[in-house]
Amino acid sequence: MHLQFPGADFEADRLEFLELARSAGAAIVAVVGGRRERPDPGLYAGDGKVDEIAAAVAAGGAELVIFNHDLSPSQERNLEKRLQCRVLDRTGLILDIFARRARSHEGKLQVELAQLQHLATRLVRGWTHLERQRGGGIGMTGPGETQLELDRRLIGERIALLKRRLEDVRSRRAQNRQARARREIPTVSLVGYTNAGKSTLFNALTGAGTFASGQLFATLDTTVRRVALPTGETVVLADTVGFIRELPHDLIAAFRATLEEAREADLLLHVIDAADPERAVRSEQVEAVLREIGAHEVPRLQVYNKIDLRTEETPRVERDANGLPRRVFISARDGRGLDLLRDAIAQCLYPDLVEDEIRLPPSAARLRAQLFALKAVRAERVEQDGGLRLTVRLPYSRLVRLCREAGLAPPRRAVLASG
Ligand code: GTP
Repeated sequence: MHLQFPGADFEADRLEFLELARSAGAAIVAVVGGRRERPDPGLYAGDGKVDEIAAAVAAGGAELVIFNHDLSPSQERNLEKRLQCRVLDRTGLILDIFARRARSHEGKLQVELAQLQHLATRLVRGWTHLERQRGGGIGMTGPGETQLELDRRLIGERIALLKRRLEDVRSRRAQNRQARARREIPTVSLVGYTNAGKSTLFNALTGAGTFASGQLFATLDTTVRRVALPTGETVVLADTVGFIRELPHDLIAAFRATLEEAREADLLLHVIDAADPERAVRSEQVEAVLREIGAHEVPRLQVYNKIDLRTEETPRVERDANGLPRRVFISARDGRGLDLLRDAIAQCLYPDLVEDEIRLPPSAARLRAQLFALKAVRAERVEQDGGLRLTVRLPYSRLVRLCREAGLAPPRRAVLASG
């Protein structure tokens, strides 16, 4: 069931809804659509529309009706009574997809917490409904307690336990982040609309074999790996959950830890499916979600992926007025443009990257060792007086600092990023 309200993009919303339902494993027997000014308080849809859905349920033998909208617990209850069939709302649908995809410990905890919180608001409907949902119910009923009270108490306890465990996981993650910050390793997070190719790109850049499925939400958990840049610097690359439009608000809270990674990144790679006719709308939706989670101030590089599907596109970099990369066109599948992307990441993280020759007197052995330790030395020549001529590539600010510490005049600035 998908309703159009004024101002919404009906067709795009409808297609995404169908993709989501399929991703949850639904075999769709009918799609009912309609237009309304505003939701009906009792049934969400209008009376006649609900009859239409009931007829479609009967004709197709459907076991489930999915609404592409968030329903209040009482709307859901009223609809189930009228339709004589289970009703799932948009949050429930997305949670179901998340539950199928959760892989890591933290992901599973987050999903279970969000599901229980969603369920807890629906407990007012009472026992019979819950028994059906749980498929058997729980064994022990405490003396003097009604089933509904017991359900509430058990769910409350379980929610408290899950929250404690999540806190543990988060504080461990925060410690890891602090350790990374101390080592000055920048974090680069992949964000993007679901199915844009984040996991594939993550694997291509890290050489990791985590799976890409072609189904929505293959990545629920943040996967983190190190990547070496052409400058010799190392960054931490983090894959995040795919964004979808109108992510239900409960889910933003439940997946905070996953999204936090994006908020605290030094650079966001916004992966966009270059072959998707909806790419402009979808990338704007990702931007909207980034604003919602407070990640909009993190520098961003747009990565147009899947150029292998568009013959007119070639691997290339587009730059802003300052010469900094803004868009990179690549194919994560066949690897074209990945070298450009690695360079672009380095230029975004180190906008003052330079490649320069410096002359070191024989007394500057410590500076030489420091430059080698940074993997900044590209070439080295010994001069007649025993001094050294080094070709180095590193952020200009760091080069200046190191030269000053060694009592040498730093070379004049020539920024690579603008070249
Ligand atoms: P979620 O985990 O759902 O957020 O998706 P994702 O953004 O991680 O996408 P994923 O890497 O799973 O890729 C989605 C589909 O696009 C898969 O079928 C990939 O094989 C395919 N794909 C990814 N990159 C490319 C590419 O460069 N070219 C082509 N033709 N297909 C690609």
